[in-house]
Amino acid sequence: MIKLTPPMGWNSWNTYGHNINEALIKETADAMVDTGLLAAGYDYLVIDDCWSERQRDENNRIVPCKEKFPNGMKSVADYVHSKGLKFGMYSCAGNYTCAVYPGSFEYEFIDAATFAEWGVDFLKYDYCFRPYWQQGHILYKRMGFALENCGRDILFSACSWGVDETHKWIKETGAHMWRSTGDINDSWESIKTLAQKQIDLQPYNGQGCFNDMDMLVVGMYGKGNVALIGCTDDTNKDIIAINQDPAGRQPYLTDKNPNNMSWAKPLDGGDIALGFFNLTDSNQCPFIPFDNIGLNRSTGKALHLTNLWTGEDLGVHKDIYRAPVIAPHGCMVLRGKLVDAK
Ligand code: GAL
Repeated sequence: MIKLTPPMGWNSWNTYGHNINEALIKETADAMVDTGLLAAGYDYLVIDDCWSERQRDENNRIVPCKEKFPNGMKSVADYVHSKGLKFGMYSCAGNYTCAVYPGSFEYEFIDAATFAEWGVDFLKYDYCFRPYWQQGHILYKRMGFALENCGRDILFSACSWGVDETHKWIKETGAHMWRSTGDINDSWESIKTLAQKQIDLQPYNGQGCFNDMDMLVVGMYGKGNVALIGCTDDTNKDIIAINQDPAGRQPYLTDKNPNNMSWAKPLDGGDIALGFFNLTDSNQCPFIPFDNIGLNRSTGKALHLTNLWTGEDLGVHKDIYRAPVIAPHGCMVLRGKLVDAK
């Protein structure tokens, strides 16, 4: 399978950690539909670590925890599918998962076949408890092979946290997305650190294998498994459309200031998205000289800009766009349409 736009969905870890069970997952599936998340494009529901028994069965098959999932995983998958969602699960390239449940090391093919039987559509694959003599890229290649041959389309979500120079080898493994950072927690500092890490890793993001900055912490407000300080939230369909743009082109930095980042992303059909992110603790008025995005004066072209958070028509700008004051930790995202400069 090939993934043309970044996968979207919900994962159990950040909110519930090991406190997962069949009823909770079914309730979550209902909520993803009822709250409009599915309609907004969040179509994967993923069960993270702590879903299995501590031991494999006598045939070396991994077994769902009988207490948490008394009816097995197939019935959970069936329920999730009945809501129009896709179903994701979690395993690990090492001997154990990070929470010390059985890992898939040397059981890759049997586990991929089991997941396919259950109706799994997505596999998050972690990196804990890897034997020291094994190279990570080989382990991910092995699971990549197993998934491609399991008879079902299963999205392969690698989770080696960007260590061991993951960006250099991850595409070879068949992964469709790769964790480019360590774990997020629900705090501004965490979001800022993860965002800044993308500056060097952004060239590796693209169609087929997307950089994964870990989960959104929107709406957690300092509660749940990765709770810290909490964050305010903003969500918007036009912003999601930028993320899901069919051309799948990677954004690039137009200003290398790591605290006050300006990004541009060319979109399908010729528009361009411009994003200003104030990572500092003071007001900023960033700007993008259009020269930096290839629209120098001699082109005779300008940009008709719309503010995607407010919907405000910002009119036609040539040569440069100077943003108004952006509050600390704030951002502004614009969509620009190419027009003739007057
Ligand atoms: C970490 C991973 C987290 C979560 C956790 C489960 O390694 O980065 O996202 O999956 O393991 O134990």
